[in-house]
Amino acid sequence: MRIGVLTAGGDCPGLNAVIRSVVHRALTGHDDEVIGFEDGFKGLLDGRYRKLDLDAVSGILARGGTILGSARLERARLREACENGKDLAREYGIDVLIPIGGEGTLTASKMLADAGLPIVGVPKTIDNDISATDRTFGFDTAVGVATEAIDRLKTTAESHQRVMVVEVMGRHAGWIALESGMAGGAHGICLPERPFDVNDLVAMVEERFDRGKKFAVVCVAEGAHPAEGTMDYGHGEIDQYGHERFQGIGTALARELEHRLGKEARPVILGHVQRGGTPTAYDRVLATRFGWHAVEAAHRGDFGQMTALRGTDIVMSPLADAVTELKTVPVSRMDETESVF
Ligand code: F6P
Repeated sequence: MRIGVLTAGGDCPGLNAVIRSVVHRALTGHDDEVIGFEDGFKGLLDGRYRKLDLDAVSGILARGGTILGSARLERARLREACENGKDLAREYGIDVLIPIGGEGTLTASKMLADAGLPIVGVPKTIDNDISATDRTFGFDTAVGVATEAIDRLKTTAESHQRVMVVEVMGRHAGWIALESGMAGGAHGICLPERPFDVNDLVAMVEERFDRGKKFAVVCVAEGAHPAEGTMDYGHGEIDQYGHERFQGIGTALARELEHRLGKEARPVILGHVQRGGTPTAYDRVLATRFGWHAVEAAHRGDFGQMTALRGTDIVMSPLADAVTELKTVPVSRMDETESVF
């Protein structure tokens, strides 16, 4: 069997572990050949690929990023290729394509699968917001980075009697904010799923200082926004998916808290630090299992599906189920902590 693999969308710790696992399983468990397309779907459309053998994936398990390169997809170009009946499988002589990516990539993969390309998808995103799988690799690493940041910020906040506002990634789902906020013991957590009332945050910080505590940490997801009328924050920009995207909530919230509390507040935007660097052991294992199962699924002919974690098992799930809706934080999870505002 000849397998094509690519990584698309925003990168994520664990991508290299999947690529390595696909190559190992394909070449040692079967007698397959693997080619890797460069820069996601761009490489697929432009014919940029290279052969991946055991040497090519040697030493990459612990490396962040992706050896193949990644790019946000050009859905219009891909759609055009599908509509023109471009036979990508025939063009490259591949029996299956394994795209590794988030919601956008899986949507594009479904499009290609519907157009007849044999596809086995592998979900990835640090945001953990793909509905068909219990977890995505990259999330554990991102939560670890954000938790360490909160731990570190607490000591400097206390020294200076400040309020720290840590902005973490998560445009539409607040999983990173929720779990790093809980693990780091943030006093306030703000999620995209629930507009927060700034007055409540102000009251929480005041109550802490009244109790003799001299600092507070608020963990805010980048997509969180204040409840109507509680803070002058304006409107977000509409992104390529038609979602309203707010910019700079961490900075705006720190400014607002400083103004209202009369105490120093500092914003800390963690940004892409959360996406870079070596994956945790958990993410390496999940990524490796996904790669192994993707190759096995290809040999069974389970096309139009993606690997998914259910409980502790890896199962196959239709690509269609992965892209219907994002997995956002349910109220039941928010209600497990007093810190979500
Ligand atoms: O979807 C993953 C993600 O890291 C989001 O959490 C974040 O909003 C976005 O990608 C950032 O994208 P870019 O790297 O294109 O700025």
